[in-house]
Amino acid sequence: MRQNHYLPFLVVAMLTHTLWSFGQNTPTSVIEQKVDSLLRIMTLEEKVGQMNQYNGFWNVTGPAPDDGAAAKKYDHLRKGYVGSMLNVAGVENVRAVQKIAVEETRLGIPLIIGFDVIHGYKTISPIPLAEAASWDLEAIKKSAAVAAEETAAAGINWTFAPMVDISRDARWGRVMEGAGEDPYLGSKIAVARVQGFQGDDLSSIKTIVACAKHFAGYGFSESGKDYNTVDAGSNTMYNIIFPPFQAAKDAGVRTFMNAFNVWNGIPSTGNSFLQRDILKGKWDFEGFVVSDWGSITEMITHGYAKDGKEAARLAAIAGSDMDMESYHYVEHLASLVRENKVDQALIDDAVKRILRVKFELGLFDDPYKYCDAQRQKEVTGKKEFQDAVLDMAKKSIVLLKNEQELLPLKKSGLNIALIGALANDKNSPLGSWRLAGDDNSAVSVLEGMQQYPNNTLTFAKGADLSIGETAFIREVKINERDTSAFAKARTVASKADVVVMVLGEHGFQSGEGRSRADIDLPGVQQALLETIYKANPNIVLVLNNGRPLAIPWADKHIPAIVEAWHLGTQSGHAIAQVLYGDYNPSGKLPMTFPRSVGQSPIYYNHLRTGRPDELSDDLVFWSHYQDQAVTPLYPFGHGLSYTSFAYSNLTATQPASSNTIEVSVTVTNTGKRAGKEVVQLYINDTYASVVRPVKELKGFELVSLQPSQSKEIRFTLDKDALGFYNNQGEYKVESGDFIIYVGGSSQTDLHTNVDYKKTE
Ligand code: NOJ
Repeated sequence: MRQNHYLPFLVVAMLTHTLWSFGQNTPTSVIEQKVDSLLRIMTLEEKVGQMNQYNGFWNVTGPAPDDGAAAKKYDHLRKGYVGSMLNVAGVENVRAVQKIAVEETRLGIPLIIGFDVIHGYKTISPIPLAEAASWDLEAIKKSAAVAAEETAAAGINWTFAPMVDISRDARWGRVMEGAGEDPYLGSKIAVARVQGFQGDDLSSIKTIVACAKHFAGYGFSESGKDYNTVDAGSNTMYNIIFPPFQAAKDAGVRTFMNAFNVWNGIPSTGNSFLQRDILKGKWDFEGFVVSDWGSITEMITHGYAKDGKEAARLAAIAGSDMDMESYHYVEHLASLVRENKVDQALIDDAVKRILRVKFELGLFDDPYKYCDAQRQKEVTGKKEFQDAVLDMAKKSIVLLKNEQELLPLKKSGLNIALIGALANDKNSPLGSWRLAGDDNSAVSVLEGMQQYPNNTLTFAKGADLSIGETAFIREVKINERDTSAFAKARTVASKADVVVMVLGEHGFQSGEGRSRADIDLPGVQQALLETIYKANPNIVLVLNNGRPLAIPWADKHIPAIVEAWHLGTQSGHAIAQVLYGDYNPSGKLPMTFPRSVGQSPIYYNHLRTGRPDELSDDLVFWSHYQDQAVTPLYPFGHGLSYTSFAYSNLTATQPASSNTIEVSVTVTNTGKRAGKEVVQLYINDTYASVVRPVKELKGFELVSLQPSQSKEIRFTLDKDALGFYNNQGEYKVESGDFIIYVGGSSQTDLHTNVDYKKTE
C-alpha cells in the first residue's frame, strides 16, 4: 500500500494542469476540460474499469478477501478496474473502499457509490406509489431531499431512484415503486423527485445523484409478472412510457438505468434505439446509463447474445455505459476494442459521461466528503426528517369510502376494537425497499391510536397475516389457514362502538419479484373481515398495501375504507391522525383499483373501442364482460375528504390568435370542515390522426378551502397539453373538437367543448 495518502490524486492533478475545486457553479467547460485531460492519461483497462460496477463484496471492516470471486473483485478494485460500487453503506465502509480506489490505484479516481434509496434511507418515507397519491409535488420533493441528505451522510452519493415506469397492472409487484398509471402525473412527480434528490448543486453535501429507471417499458411486463416480456406499441411507448423519462432528463437527472425486459424483441440493455437514438440522440442526455443488475448477462438468457463477450459488445454499442454486476465489461471490453469489435470512441464517450458525474459531485475535490462519521450521527433520523415523513404520510392517505360519516372518530367516549395483524406491526409499514431501514422501526397503528387516550382501545389480532419470513430474501409466508384467533376478535368487536380493522399486504408482498396472481386480501383476512362484520358492521377498514387491491366485498359492505399503503417510519401516527380528523384526508388514487384481477390491466386513459358501452344499446356485442361491470372499483383520481366540494362555472375558450385553451372553474367547499381538494383537468381529443384516450390528465391544482369558501381555478392548455406523438415519434398538434373535463376524479362528467383551431 502506498504511504502518501493522496499521491495518485496529485499525479492526476499535475498531469491535467488544472485546479481541484469543482464546487457549485463550476462551469461545464471546466469540467469538460478536466474530463478530457483525465481521459488522455487513462489506459484502456482503466477506462473500462470506470464502466464496471461491483456489488459490495466483503466485510470491509474485516480482512480483505484472499480467494475466490471476492478476491478477484478486490484485485480489480486495487488496479483501478472498478468505477462504482453499490450496496456499500455507512461512512466507515464507504471510506474503506474509497481509500483503496483513491490511494492504491494508479490514478486514484474516486468511486461513485450507489444504493437503492427508493423511499428513504434510515428514515423511511411512504412507498412512492403512496407519495404519488398526495399529488403534492412540494411534499414529494421534500421527501426526496430528506432521503438525499440522510443518504449522503451515510457515505453514499447515488440513488437508483426515481423509478418512473408507468404501470397499469396491479399484479406487478413494482407498482409500489412508481407514480402509478398516468404519464402527466408521473412526469411531474419524476421532476419533483429528481429535484429533491439532486437539488440545485450536486456538489452539496446534502444532495445525491438520481437515476431514472428502468429505461424502458419495464412497467408493462406482460401479465404483471416481473421481468417478463413487454409488448407495447409505439403509440404507448411515445405517449405513455417515455414522457416521465423525458421529464426526468429535462429536469437534469444525471443517470438512467436500463431495464430487464425485452421490448420489440430486443432487451432494453442491448437496445440502441432506446439508449442511443432516443435518450442520447433525440433527448441529448449527457449523463450515463447503468445497466440493471446483471442485465447484460441476462441478454444471453434472453437468447439475444451467444456469450458474455457478445453481450458486452451488444450492450456497449447500444449505449449501456456501466455494467452492474455482469462482469462482462471488465472481462471483455478491452479485447473487444483491440479486436476492432467495439469502437474506442464509444468507450471514451461512456467514460466521459461517468467521470463528468464524478466531477459534478465534487469527488475529485474531496473523495471522502461523504464520509464524516460525526455528520452521519447528527443527521441520521433527525427530528426534521421524522416531521417530513409524517407530513408526507398523512398527505398520502386516500379516503376511499365514508358512509354516514363514520369517520372521523370522536376523540372521547368511544369503545374501539382494533383488529388485524397489521394493526400492531412495526415492520410491514416499512415496505420492501428499506434496505438500510431498521426492522420494526415504524410506528404501528396501535401506537398511533394510543396517542388518543380518551377512548377505550382494545386490540385483538384476529389472525396472523404471515407465518414466517425468510431472512435473506425477505419473502413472507402468508397464513392461509389458522383462524384460531377469530373468536377472541369477534368478542372484542361485538362489545365495541366501532371497529378499526387494519388489513392488507405485508410490506414484503410488493416490490421487486413480488408479483401476485390474485390481488385480494391475502390469507385468512377476507374471512376475518366477514366474521367481524357479522359481529359488528360498524367497521373502519384501514388498508396497508403496495398495489391496488380488488376488494369488492369490502366496498359493498364496509362503511368506511381508508387506503393507507405502506407509509414508512411514521405510519401509525399518520393513520391515527387521519382517523381522528386531525388531518383531513386529501389523497387521490394514482392508480385504478379493479373489481377483480380479471380486469387487469385497467386504467382510466384507455382508447375507445369501436363498441364502447355508452354508444351501444346492444345487449351482447359490445366491449364488456359477461360477468362483471367494465367500470373500476375506484377510479384513478378518486379520493374523498371529511368535507365535500362542488364544481361550477366551467368555461374553456381559445383566445383569438392564440394556440392555447384557457379553462376556468369555481370550486366550493360545501361541507363543514376545512379541506383540501385536488382539482383535476382532463381532455379528450375527440378525433385525431392517431386515436386519443377517452380522457387524459393535463393539469391539476391543490386547493385548500374553508367551509363555504369558493375559489376560481384557472388552467392554460398549451401545445404541450393538446398534442401527441405519432407512431414515428413526431409531436403533432391538430385542430378539432376537444372536450375539457374538470372535477375531483377521472370519472368526472363536468365538461365543456372547444372547437380548437391551430393558428400556426
Ligand atoms: C435490480 C432492480 O431492478 C433495480 O431497480 C435496482 O436498482 C438494482 N437491482 C440494484 O439493486
